[in-house]
Amino acid sequence: MPSSPELNIALIGCGTVGGGVVRILQSSADLLAQRTGRTICLRRIVVRDVKKRRNLELGQIPVSDDIRTVIDDPEIHAAIHVVGGVNPARTDVTNLLQAGKDVITANKALLYAHGSELFALAHQLGRTICFEAAVAGGIPIISAVNTALTANRIVSIEAILNGTSNFILSRMLDRRQSYEDVLTEAQARGYAEADPAMDVDGTDAAQKLSILTQLAYGTTVPLRDIVRQGIQHIELLDLLVASELGYRVKLLATSRISKGRLELSVQPTLVRNDRPVALTSGADNIVSIEGDAVGLMRFSGAGAGQMPTASAVLADVIDYATGRAAITFQSLQRLQEREPIPLQPQDELSRRYYMRFTVADRPHVLADIADILGRNEISISSVRQDETADVDDESGVARLVIMTHRTTEGRLREADAAIAALSSLRGSRIRMPIAD
Ligand code: NAP
Ligand code: HSE
Repeated sequence: MPSSPELNIALIGCGTVGGGVVRILQSSADLLAQRTGRTICLRRIVVRDVKKRRNLELGQIPVSDDIRTVIDDPEIHAAIHVVGGVNPARTDVTNLLQAGKDVITANKALLYAHGSELFALAHQLGRTICFEAAVAGGIPIISAVNTALTANRIVSIEAILNGTSNFILSRMLDRRQSYEDVLTEAQARGYAEADPAMDVDGTDAAQKLSILTQLAYGTTVPLRDIVRQGIQHIELLDLLVASELGYRVKLLATSRISKGRLELSVQPTLVRNDRPVALTSGADNIVSIEGDAVGLMRFSGAGAGQMPTASAVLADVIDYATGRAAITFQSLQRLQEREPIPLQPQDELSRRYYMRFTVADRPHVLADIADILGRNEISISSVRQDETADVDDESGVARLVIMTHRTTEGRLREADAAIAALSSLRGSRIRMPIAD
C-alpha cells in the first residue's frame, strides 16, 4: 500500500457500478480525503467501447479500451475492476496484480471461479484484493464475516443474495406484473447481470453463497454441491396461493452446519410472511448469519443497483487507502486454515414442500398423484384445487397445489419424476421447499 498522500486509481469498467464509482469520487472527494487523509485521484478509465455515451463528467481523464494503459502505468497504485464475466477478467486481474497493482473488484463470478488462485497470487506478490461489492451489493457482509464476526464459529447463513430475482418475485405479487415485464424493468434499473439468466436461474446467488461459505467456514464449495433451482418457472398463481397460505416466495440461499455436515441450497422457498426474510422486498438482500457467540445477526438493505454497489466499492477504496484492507487481506489466509466440513448429501436434505401441477381435469388424477407420493412415503399436509368449469370433453385443466409434511429432497425428486410421467400432466409444474 503506497504511503504518498495521493492515491492513484484506475477504473476498469464504467457501466452501472463504474458510473456510480465515478459519481461518488466526484461528489464526495472531500469526505474521502478527510476519511483517508489522502487525495484519491481517478487517473485512467478502461471500457469496452470508448465511443459509448456515458452521462458522466469525465473531464480530462483518459478513457481507453486497452487495459495495458493501466498495467503499464507505474503511477497507478490500484485498479477498481467492475467488469462482469470470467474472461478476460481472470487474465486482466492476474496481469494487474503482477504489475504491482492492488485490485478492488465487484465480480463474484470471477471470485467464485478463480478466487483461490487470485488470492494465492496476491498473497505471494504482497498485493491486496478487496471484494465487498461482490456479495449482497451495498450490505457490508464481507467486512462483517472477515472482521467483526471473526471471534465466532459460524453455524448458519440464510440469505437473499440476488436483487434481480427478489425484485421480480416482489413486483409480480405486488403489481400482478408478468415475469417478463418485471425482468425487463430489473435490467433497465441496472440490477441484472449482462446475462440475466445468471440472476434468475440461481447461479449468481449460488456463486455468492459459495464465496460466503468459504469465508465463514473455510470450506470451498463448487456449484455442483449446492442444490440449485431458479425462479424462471414460478407463476403468479404460485405467489398468490403461497400468500393465501401465509407465505412469501423468496430465492433463499442457505448454508448451514447440521449434525456436523454442511447443508447448501439456493431455491425458491416458501417463507412465513412475518419473518424478516419474507419482508425483504424489491432489490433488497438480507443475510441472517448465526455465530456461536454472537447469536443471530441480520444484515439487510440494497443488494444491487448503481449507488449502493458503488458505496461498497468506495468502502473498499477507503479501507485500502488507510491500510486496513491490506491487514484484513493478509489475515484471510489464517481464517481459511480449517478442517473441511463434510457435505450433507443433497438427497438427504429434509424439508416440507409445496408442489403445483397443471393436470387434466378428469377422474383419478388426484388419486394417481397421491398414490405416487404415498409410495414414496411422502405425507400430504394439504391439497388445494379451485373449482373448474364443467366441460364434457377432456379439454379441461385443473391447477393442483399440494403441501407435504417433512420429507427428503431425494424422495421428492423420485416422486416428482414419477408424477411427470403421468399422462394426465399438462403444462408446467413446480416444487419448492418450505422454510418453517
Ligand atoms: P455493466 O453495466 O454491464 O458495465 C460493465 C462495464 O465493463 C462497461 O463499462 C463495459 O464497457 C466494461 N467492459 C466490458 N468488457 C470489458 C473489457 N473486456 N475490458 C474493459 N471494460 C470492459 O455491469 P455492472 O452492472 O456495472 O457490473 C459490473 C460488475 O459488478 C459485474 O461483475 C457485476 O456482477 C458486479 N456487480 C454488479 C452489481 C449491480 O447492481 N449492477 C452489483 C454488485 C456487483 P462499455 O461500457 O464500453 O460496454
Ligand atoms: N445481478 C446482481 C443481483 C447484482 O441482481 O443481485 C448484485 O450482485
